Amino acid sequence: MQALNDIPVLDDLDAPKQVAVTSSGKRNVYLETYGCQMNVSDSEIVASVLRENGYGLTHDESEADIVLINTCAIRENAEQKVRRRLDELRSRKKRHNPDLRLGVLGCMAERLRHRLLEEEKLVDLVVGPDAYRDLPNLLSQAHDSGQAAVNVQLSREETYDDISPVRYDSNGVSAFVSIMRGCDNMCSFCVVPFTRGRERSRSATSILDECSRLVDEGFREVTVLGQNVNSYAADGVGFAELLYRISQISPELRIRYSTSHPKDCSDELLHVHAERENVCNYIHLPVQHGNTAMLERMRRTYTRDEYLSLVERARLIVPGVSLSTDIIAGFCDETEEEHRDTLSLMEAVRYDHAYMFMYSERPTTYAARKYEDNVPEEVKKRRLTEIIQLQSQISLGSNQAEIGCEHVVLVEGTSRRSDAQLAGRTDSNKMVVFDRGDYEKGQYVRVRITDCTSATLIGEPV
Ligand code: SAH
Ligand code: SF4
Ligand code: F3S
Repeated sequence: MQALNDIPVLDDLDAPKQVAVTSSGKRNVYLETYGCQMNVSDSEIVASVLRENGYGLTHDESEADIVLINTCAIRENAEQKVRRRLDELRSRKKRHNPDLRLGVLGCMAERLRHRLLEEEKLVDLVVGPDAYRDLPNLLSQAHDSGQAAVNVQLSREETYDDISPVRYDSNGVSAFVSIMRGCDNMCSFCVVPFTRGRERSRSATSILDECSRLVDEGFREVTVLGQNVNSYAADGVGFAELLYRISQISPELRIRYSTSHPKDCSDELLHVHAERENVCNYIHLPVQHGNTAMLERMRRTYTRDEYLSLVERARLIVPGVSLSTDIIAGFCDETEEEHRDTLSLMEAVRYDHAYMFMYSERPTTYAARKYEDNVPEEVKKRRLTEIIQLQSQISLGSNQAEIGCEHVVLVEGTSRRSDAQLAGRTDSNKMVVFDRGDYEKGQYVRVRITDCTSATLIGEPV
């Protein structure tokens, strides 16, 4: 077995991301993105709006006239990371380039605009996630008048339906397609409904057109995105129907989605997974916690038993389906016994993969107003560690069970650690690396699994 850090991976979730394309223009923008896939997809829209309006895009910070940071507010440490970055940029502006304009976009904008603009005078521009069409105006304002420019208005309609994003993926294999925005669920711990506003869905026709264009351009995979993607509904088309229609565009196009809520995971949707070969055999079903009283405090709208029977139904209707989840450790009033329910649920489900977090209180949320963040930091840490260790054993077991099996891998590119190897994912969303041979990115390659770690499969083409 290779050690975990010997294994090349394609994605570093914590690293800030940049749009792949660069271009020159009247003024050059350096755009850096933190947070979830939705933010990455939004930055593609921002890049498109900027380019249409004559701005250039650069990857070189020192060439930039404008630096824009697309921010995340989901946990305290996500915000801290952005704040440290802003401090760094501001001191550079002071020392080297007083004309540099700094802007904050995305999920921190709404919450922190007063502090960022007035109290701390950190930035020249604050733009919320529904105001990106206004960016050219705001940039002119910040440039011409030297005054701070701000638009953090949230919208009930904006879906950027007609804006053709500048794609991140320079290798043209895999693309994000935003299909809905906002969230109405109001889980008690979560800031997203406040930073992103109400749910709204984009028209099915424009989504299908965009996916067809991507196929024509040679893309082989789309991930349809929304904060609560499976509550999609527009013009009488629901999420299951939409996926079905996308899957008919081309058998060569793989379809994934993120991120779904268990309450909207219908049998109809499960049947689409089962029937359509190119709708991936993988569902992200964030459980958050394994105890029913906790789930109620979290306002997740399902009990432990309801969740477990959903998992059972998913495995019955979609044989071999791969499942992943999100888990929070140390939420308000969590007892040791409740925590053990999370561990026992993980044992019962045996997820292939999990994203695991320590609870971080977010101002304005229901939990911040009504409950006390009373689990001591070291207890939170210990519980999270137990959760991570358990998942790592389960993931390793699930990967070991793949040894000897064959999978069709869509090659996404060269593996990070070695040019001699390629990396891509299986239908079930597992990362596989294998020797390059004559294969290229964008190809489907049948691979036999020969070895693994808890994070990656190692294979050889057959
Ligand atoms: N809409 C998605 C979640 C988006 S946020 C869903 O419902 O699944 C991604 C994950 O961050 C959440 O699933 C949750 O596990 C975690 N998260 C959200 N708020 C958090 C907080 N205050 N503290 C710790 N983790 C949090
Ligand atoms: Fe947050 Fe819950 Fe909405 Fe997910 S479903 S974005 S956790 S409020
Ligand atoms: Fe972060 Fe906003 Fe996404 S808070 S996780 S960037 S929706």
